[in-house]
Amino acid sequence: MEIESLKSEISKIISSGSEFNDKLKDICNLLKEKIIHYDWVGFYFKNGNKEELKLARFAGKPTEHTLIPFGKGICGQVALSNENFVVQDVFEQDNYISCGIKVKSEIVVPIFKNGQNIGQIDIDSHQRSPFTKKDEELLEFVCEKVSGILPF
Ligand code: SME
Repeated sequence: MEIESLKSEISKIISSGSEFNDKLKDICNLLKEKIIHYDWVGFYFKNGNKEELKLARFAGKPTEHTLIPFGKGICGQVALSNENFVVQDVFEQDNYISCGIKVKSEIVVPIFKNGQNIGQIDIDSHQRSPFTKKDEELLEFVCEKVSGILPF
């Protein structure tokens, strides 16, 4: 993974003239295409005043989990913990929502606006234990950039 070139591609998307949701989609596509162990990439955001996450844009297989209550699954736990959640083996997790039998690991990084946890990027991988500190560094960069262009 060449972090610096990926960061530069992300920055280009962020500063392009596209609509917010198109930028999200472009980021999802870029990450899924360029990082071999990323098989599904999506953004969830807090659904208005509700204590739930709503899927925005994604790349990969469509999921039925477009709404996730806070506290449920890896995503719902991150909505409450405000911390990155790296799951190297999803089969070891009790509080996990499966998006397909091929998925073996997952990483979720929260997005903050004015100190509030307002969303997250979620990655599923078909590999076991693929994630390193480099993934967290890259995804934190993505989340900071997305936070800077939020239309809400
Ligand atoms: N596995 C997630 C649900 C979302 S899918 O990965 C797209 C979870 O446990 O919250």
